[in-house]
Amino acid sequence: MKTSEETIPYFDLTGQFAMVREEWFREINRLGRSGNFILGDAINQFETCFADYLGVKHAVSVSSGTDAISLALKALGVGSGDSVIVPDFTFFATAEAISLVGATPIFVDINPIDFNIDVSKIESAIRADTKAILPVHLFGAPANLDPILELASKKSIAVIEDAAQAFSARIGGSCVGSIGHAGCFSFYPTKVLGAFGDGGLVTTNDSQVADQLTLLRNHGLTGPNIHSLIGCTSRLNCVQATLLLIKLNSIDEKIKSRHEITRIYFEQLAGLDLVLPRQQRGTTHAYNIFTVRSRLRDNIAQALKIHNIGHQIYYPMPLHKQPPYHHLGYTDAEFPESMRAADEVISLPFYPEMPRSHVDRICAVIRDVIG
Ligand SMILES: Cc1ncc(COP(=O)(O)O)c(C=O)c1O
Repeated sequence: MKTSEETIPYFDLTGQFAMVREEWFREINRLGRSGNFILGDAINQFETCFADYLGVKHAVSVSSGTDAISLALKALGVGSGDSVIVPDFTFFATAEAISLVGATPIFVDINPIDFNIDVSKIESAIRADTKAILPVHLFGAPANLDPILELASKKSIAVIEDAAQAFSARIGGSCVGSIGHAGCFSFYPTKVLGAFGDGGLVTTNDSQVADQLTLLRNHGLTGPNIHSLIGCTSRLNCVQATLLLIKLNSIDEKIKSRHEITRIYFEQLAGLDLVLPRQQRGTTHAYNIFTVRSRLRDNIAQALKIHNIGHQIYYPMPLHKQPPYHHLGYTDAEFPESMRAADEVISLPFYPEMPRSHVDRICAVIRDVIG
């Protein structure tokens, strides 16, 4: 049964567009008049500002978050015949990027606190052919990087952070994405720093890795018609770069709004049989996606649907169950926490411009179901 209540969308980008429209159109006009459409000034400016914001030496923009991960893997020498450690519970693209470079993902279960990789299970999963660990800062909660970095250093393998959902998250004073050998970001529109189209970026403090990435994203081009390696077309679109630069300049306000909406959700959902987003001590959550967990997840989803309230299940199928990975022979029993998360999580509407009245209505529906 559906009601005639006003729809509450899971996400709405139209407010963001209205806010930047004038300035962005001016910049697009300027770009158009320059005729400098590929790897132009907008790209350099955006990369410099992004690197400054993150406190990292190099930022190399690319076409998507998926490319950011696969090109970072390539730049760090990971390829065919290698394996890479990755959490079993994340967006498909994290593993897909590993497969795209010809390597094999090794899935590891997650911890039930923040849904990130269970660091106690990584060492036993490392094989002779393992070249990297790829922790994901899922939903915006920083993964526990210190023990991962220590283990990686002991085994002489790389740590590549999937920070696609975690722009602005911090571990102590450091931004995630600036801590491992490379950090990978996505500018998919719903991200904390989102484009109005696709985009991605790799951060690194290693000049050689940055140089490799710069070549890889542009056909290995080192001079006119000279190609020093096999790369691809993975340049960030200049039109998106002009927008991202504008948004980056005022991103702290948006991050503040995310924390304020989180505070209201926490206040209104307190005391219910529901686990609210959690993070490791000493870290700052980016609150990209507001995910809660409940044994009554399906009842909550049904009630939200009845009341015209958008929601998402991120992610209903752990990676080891995805068809392209069946051949790896994993069993559900190896991933109890990943399986439990897939059954219990639900992501609620969440974006910086979200009206307070929407949060009130969503929480009232949830309280009705499980209060
Ligand atoms: C955790 C994670 N990794 C990788 C990606 C891939 O990013 P893109 O969609 O920009 O390719 C995403 C995007 O949603 C993501 O959430």
